[in-house]
Amino acid sequence: MKKVFLFIASAVLVASACNGPVSPQDRLTANDQKINELIAQMTLEEKVNMLHSKTNMSSAGVERLGIADMNYADGPFGIREEGQPHSFQSAGWTLDSATYFPTGSALAATWSEELAYKYGTGMGKEARLRGKDVILGPAVNIQRLPVGGRTYEYLSEDPILSAALALEYTKGVQDQGTAVCIKHFAVNNQETNRGSVDAQLDERTLREIYLKPFERAIIEGGAMSVMPAYNKVNGDYCSENEHLLNEILRGEWGFKGFTVSDWGGTHSTMGAMLHGLNVQMTGDNYLGKPVIDSIATGALTEDLVDEKVRQILRVRMAIEAVPANVANTVQTSQPENQRIAREVAEKSIVLLKNEGILPIKADVKKIAVIGQNAVLKTQSGGMGAGVKALYEITPLEGIRKRAGEGVEVSYAPGYKTIAFRWGPAPEVLDPLEARSNDEPADPALVAEAVALAKDADLVLFFGGTNKSIETEGSDRKDIKLPCGQEELIQALYEANPNLATVLISGGPTDLQVLEPASPAIVQGWWNGTEGGTALAEVLFGDIAPSGKLPFTFPKKLEDSPAFAMGNFPDPNGAGGDLFSLMFRPDVLKMSAEERQQFLASLPKPVSKYTERFYVGYRWFDTKEIAPMYAFGHGLSYVNFDYDDLTAKVGKDAVKVTVKVENEGSMPADEVVQVYVNRPESKVEWPVKELKAFRRVSLNAGETKTVTLEIPLKDLRYWNEADNAWTLENGKLLLLVGSASDDIRETTEVTI
Ligand code: BGC
Repeated sequence: MKKVFLFIASAVLVASACNGPVSPQDRLTANDQKINELIAQMTLEEKVNMLHSKTNMSSAGVERLGIADMNYADGPFGIREEGQPHSFQSAGWTLDSATYFPTGSALAATWSEELAYKYGTGMGKEARLRGKDVILGPAVNIQRLPVGGRTYEYLSEDPILSAALALEYTKGVQDQGTAVCIKHFAVNNQETNRGSVDAQLDERTLREIYLKPFERAIIEGGAMSVMPAYNKVNGDYCSENEHLLNEILRGEWGFKGFTVSDWGGTHSTMGAMLHGLNVQMTGDNYLGKPVIDSIATGALTEDLVDEKVRQILRVRMAIEAVPANVANTVQTSQPENQRIAREVAEKSIVLLKNEGILPIKADVKKIAVIGQNAVLKTQSGGMGAGVKALYEITPLEGIRKRAGEGVEVSYAPGYKTIAFRWGPAPEVLDPLEARSNDEPADPALVAEAVALAKDADLVLFFGGTNKSIETEGSDRKDIKLPCGQEELIQALYEANPNLATVLISGGPTDLQVLEPASPAIVQGWWNGTEGGTALAEVLFGDIAPSGKLPFTFPKKLEDSPAFAMGNFPDPNGAGGDLFSLMFRPDVLKMSAEERQQFLASLPKPVSKYTERFYVGYRWFDTKEIAPMYAFGHGLSYVNFDYDDLTAKVGKDAVKVTVKVENEGSMPADEVVQVYVNRPESKVEWPVKELKAFRRVSLNAGETKTVTLEIPLKDLRYWNEADNAWTLENGKLLLLVGSASDDIRETTEVTI
């Protein structure tokens, strides 16, 4: 269909001449007059037609009036391949191979606002090449659970870090003329029963932790659309949650764009219409004909429909539709974006431990690379978060290329691994495929790997998970290394202690067995199209590692807050995931009616957040539980010295300066982290909270004075008695350092 779009997109950049700068959200209203004229020309049917899906990845415009359809694209890490009009099945195109960017936790491990912005520009530009108007991302929920199926998609366990990166990603995308659809709003921190679970939490925790990334991206970044999550929050589905959508998002934050339910996440006509949803994705059973019928009976007004259409049209007019003869004419993945993906990967890799093994020494002539994670590609899988990449450099490819002629690099798979498949697995599996994560080590694979290890100067073990283990739709049962990796690493270490482990995963894993058997450990992530190149650069010491953990690596799962408090898994739950229950043999045998009765008889899934704001390191530090690796941790090949910390309270911010010196003999980046502690507060606080951070590049021997600002508004707490943000006066300790457990300098200010 030919798309004509009559209006000028850049009108959103208008600033009011007399009232000073217009807020990013208010810019969206620049075309309201024209929009109202258009609405006046539309029939009710045409308007309602805009409130639901047209295809699996579009919602309708009004061709007669030159209003183009709205085209959506997953996902957060690359523009998803084109699907069939009414399913996610591949359309079989050839020009839709996109740049695969590092996944969420990897981006967050860079702690770089600048890179988050660049990442957004890459996504935004590639969306335009594909004729897409809205990217279904960024995904910015807080990483509450180490086992979370989408922990790897999300950024961090910390709201300040998540919010800063969410903001820059949003700006990067939208500066290219593509809209973001920031997701999943809100408190979507688990996949278990995600379609029905009620996340129950107090208002202070909601505001201070779980809403922060959305708040910044919407208010400061002008995020144009928002995806309400599948779950309920305090009793109501997110897609019809008055408090979240009408009171906070539109009321307090001044959101002027539109909301799009998660796919299949709309639950009723009246709920959605009255409580803040604009577009049902996918289907029209709620926001289609029933809306017209409800207007006929007087249950709903046409004014309300007009308001929803106006909110959609604001975005439609801010985002210029790409003409059909321009879209999809070149390959989606562009070299400039592949370079951004590489830079993010280079700065995301975290050196967790190093007893002199890394960087790889010049006299290493034989390297044994062990583990399937060195060769398995990570672009696909993860449903909406999968990418059909133009190419993907695996770790083994990156290492072989970098090692060059004089170094022999051998490889053995070492362990089996589970693969993602729809439907039951066949009787006979591929020899390297396991049936479950609990399968013990395979003796033949271990023997082969040990033989290689014995004969090598250095062993590089690639452990971790994969995108069938950490995936949308389910949470991990635990964070144990799967398929006998623990047995294997012990055997390898015994065979050759000159060994480094690279963990390829998106979330944390339990390293209690691995850590003593591994003198060096690197967190390598799912690191995008150039992941293998970046990893080799770090391993061989071409660049110093500079990533910092965006989440805590607990020693064991039970130490982490939601587990320690008995909040997850749901103690009163149906004994697991409702979705998996549907596949239990006895349930499968039931008639449709029996099944419905059975499901109705089960307890309603609930997730209580009684750990409150003690999420991640806030919990570990306050409860004095030592983690395996702390939030913010990440070593380098150089040492940094911190000195001369100063802090001054200004009108709007606390200004902090500190001198950082690179004491080593190679250039390296450090991430300076500022935490606060409130020794005299009458309010309850975690012992330490991140409030500012800055990545800084230092040449060998160079010293820089790093300046950071803590906006006073970020020091406020949500005062439940007043239902408002409150800044408490008093003493503030500023703890400045290289990780949450590596504080180098402290000082004090009074607010
Ligand atoms: C996911 C969203 C995604 C949508 C469309 C849903 O299952 O939760 O994140 O954008 O599908 O693929």
